[in-house]
This record gives sequence, C-alpha cells and structure tokens, in this order.
Amino acid sequence: MMKCCCPILVTGGAGFIGSNFVLQWIGLGGRVVNLDLLTYAGNPANLATLENDPRHRMVAGDICDAELVGTLLREHRPRAIVHFAAESHVDRSIAAPDAFIRTNVHGTFTLLEQARIYWSGLDEAEKGAFRFLHVSTDEVYGSLAAEDAAFSETTAYAPNSPYAATKAASDHLARAYFHTYGLPVLTTNCSNNYGPFQFPEKLIPLMILNALEGKRLPVYGDGANVRDWLYVEDHCAAIRTVLEKGRLGETYNIGGNSERANLDVVTAICGVVDELRPNAAMGPRSKLIQFVQDRPGHDRRYAIDASKIGRELAWQPKVRFEDGLRQTVTWYLEHTDWVESVRTGAYRDWIRQNYDERTSQ
Ligand code: NAD
Ligand code: TYD
Repeated sequence: MMKCCCPILVTGGAGFIGSNFVLQWIGLGGRVVNLDLLTYAGNPANLATLENDPRHRMVAGDICDAELVGTLLREHRPRAIVHFAAESHVDRSIAAPDAFIRTNVHGTFTLLEQARIYWSGLDEAEKGAFRFLHVSTDEVYGSLAAEDAAFSETTAYAPNSPYAATKAASDHLARAYFHTYGLPVLTTNCSNNYGPFQFPEKLIPLMILNALEGKRLPVYGDGANVRDWLYVEDHCAAIRTVLEKGRLGETYNIGGNSERANLDVVTAICGVVDELRPNAAMGPRSKLIQFVQDRPGHDRRYAIDASKIGRELAWQPKVRFEDGLRQTVTWYLEHTDWVESVRTGAYRDWIRQNYDERTSQ
C-alpha cells in the first residue's frame, strides 16, 4: 500500500513555477524527486534552501529519456507525477520551435508512457491513489476579442504560437492516456503567472530589471494586449487542490480574475520601482517605455473563467494583483545575486536577438 510519505515526482521543478511548487510542497512536509534538464530556464539556485535536505532529490535529466524516467519511477515509487517541464517562452518558440516540439510533445508522451507502464504494475490500492497532473496553459484556447466571454474548460482549442500548439498537443496526449488506458490524469490550464524566481525573459521580471537599471521598456505593439495575471503561490495552491480533490480525466482552468493591459502592467511596475528605488537623475521610469515591433501572431486577450475549480474544489486566488506585483518587485530588488546568476552570456545573447531588431513603433 502506498503511504502518504511516498514522494511525488516533479518534472521541471527547477524552473519558475516548479521551484515555487517544490518549496511549498516540502514546506508542507512532503517529499520530492525533481527531474529537470536544467536548461537556461532551470536554476538549482531556486532550490538553494533545500541543499542537503533529504526530502528533496534533484535529478539532472531529460523527460525525453524513457530509460531514466522508467528507472526513477521504479526506484522511488512516487504516488503522483506533477508535470511542469516544458519550453515555456512564446518569443523563443517563434525564433526556434524545435525544442518545443521535442520537450513539450515528445517529452510529455515519454512521461505518460513511462507513467502508464509503472502504474499498470501497481496493486489496486496504489493504482487508485496514483495521479498524473499535467500542468498546462490558457494559451491553448487562442485569443479573445474584448467582448468575448472568458475561456472555460469547454472552449475549443485554437493555439496560435508554436508554444501554444505544443502545449495543446501535450494536453491531447494527456487526455488520450486517460480515455484509452485509464491512467488517472488531471489537467490544469492556467493564466499568466508572476512572482519570485521567474526568468527575466518574461514580461514582468524583464520590465522590473530594465526599469531598475534605466533601460528601455519594450512594449510590443500598442500595449493593449490583455493577460489575466495570477500570483505563482496561488497557482501552486490550485495544483495541490486539483491533485488532492480533482475528478479524474477532468481539466480545470485556473486564473487570477486580474485582467490587465500590458501597458498598465508596465506602468504599475514603473510606479513601484520609482517608489522603492527613487532615482532623481533617471526621472520617472515610465519615460523609458518604448513601443516596439509587435510579436508575430500576438494573442490579443486571455481571460480565464475559473468558476469550475471554485465551485467543485473550493479554490480561489488569494493575492490581489497590486499586492502580488509589489511583493514581486521587492523580491527582485532584494535578490540581486540571483538576478546576476541567471544573466549569463546566453541570456544576453537572447536579449540581443529578441530586441535589437525590433524597431520602435
Ligand atoms: P520555466 O521555463 O520557468 O521552467 C521550465 C523548467 O522545465 C525548467 O526548469 C527547465 O530546465 C525544465 N525543462 C525544460 N525542458 C526539459 C526537459 N526536456 N526535461 C526536463 N526538464 C526540462 O517554465 P514555467 O513558467 O515554470 O512553466 C512551468 C509549466 O507551467 C510549463 O508547463 C508551462 O507551460 C506552464 N504554465 C506556465 C505559465 C506561466 O505564466 N509561466 C502559465 C500557465 C502554465
Ligand atoms: P510573456 O511574459 O512573454 O507571456 P505570454 O506571451 O505567455 O503571455 O508576455 C506577456 C505579454 O507581454 C504578452 O502580451 C507579450 C508582452 N510583452 C511585451 O510587450 N514586451 C516584452 O518584452 C515581453 C517579453 C512581453
């Protein structure tokens, strides 16, 4: 019989959301085997506080490696897999989609297949208790117009970027493993996250650091694209809730009820940085905003209808956007060592590649 002291297998647990999840899970008394390829986005420093903690086992490896995944499952006998590992940045998926196909599609397939083999060999009680939770995104649903209703779990898939298309493919595979093989799969589709440990290629941390350093703040297009922001700790709490109480084979949309236009988000960041790090010589940071060439295929608006998870599982977001944003700015200002450790040569190359050729609008 699988006891609750069994570990869970987390994939991508050195990335932004994965590391927040692992830290919370262990803080709540759990154990984790953490399989992460440690790509540019994976950072063991996120988990520095767990160094030498026997409840956390870091394994540097690839979810596409079937033999490694199979061995980890047989050796550690996890009671659940929480699958975060992915290539996750839309702009990179436009510049070089290959890695997205490999990790998001083939990697998810490999993990599902190894999970199925492992799960088939469990006794009935263990089988009943096992869960495969696939972490996905609202971007699979495509783009909304201003007047459209928010995405619900029954909205048709219409992915527009290579990133979204590969996540959609992985969602379909997860669904198929439930329907075909009975693997106890749960899928969550979440809106944009923000918070500590987010790699500074994504909007919020990029703008915080640029604002702090007096660099230009490159807003794509007209800045009126809307995202529904969720503080990362709220997302992690939702994942734990779905893991514990979610109905097998179901999908749950997770969102923050915090739709904001990009320009408003960047302006709000400028305000908090001005307040916490005033710099008279620089003047108000909002002066650094520059409208630049738009992202190709840029989705106009995302909005999540999270009423199903609220109604069925009693989860609600707790952190107001303005509070979460202030906490996040504060975290980046206080963790300059972490920031320097992620801004390697490869990071600088990406910033040059993505921004140098974007002309001002
Ligand atoms: P991230 O890019 O910060 O982290 C991804 C992690 O996966 C990294 O640690 C990386 O090293 C690891 N990884 C990549 N390829 C791997 C491979 N082949 N094998 C093993 N590990 C590999 O991403 P994130 O923002 O933390 O997102 C985590 C998950 O949540 C993703 O599946 C993403 O699609 C989903 N999601 C993210 C958001 C968001 O706003 N960030 C919103 C909704 C859903
Ligand atoms: P991002 O953080 O890349 O998340 P996603 O594309 O998955 O929603 O971008 C959030 C929004 O911010 C998106 O509409 C694109 C926009 N954006 C900018 O305007 N400038 C930037 O430099 C970046 C990285 C994003």
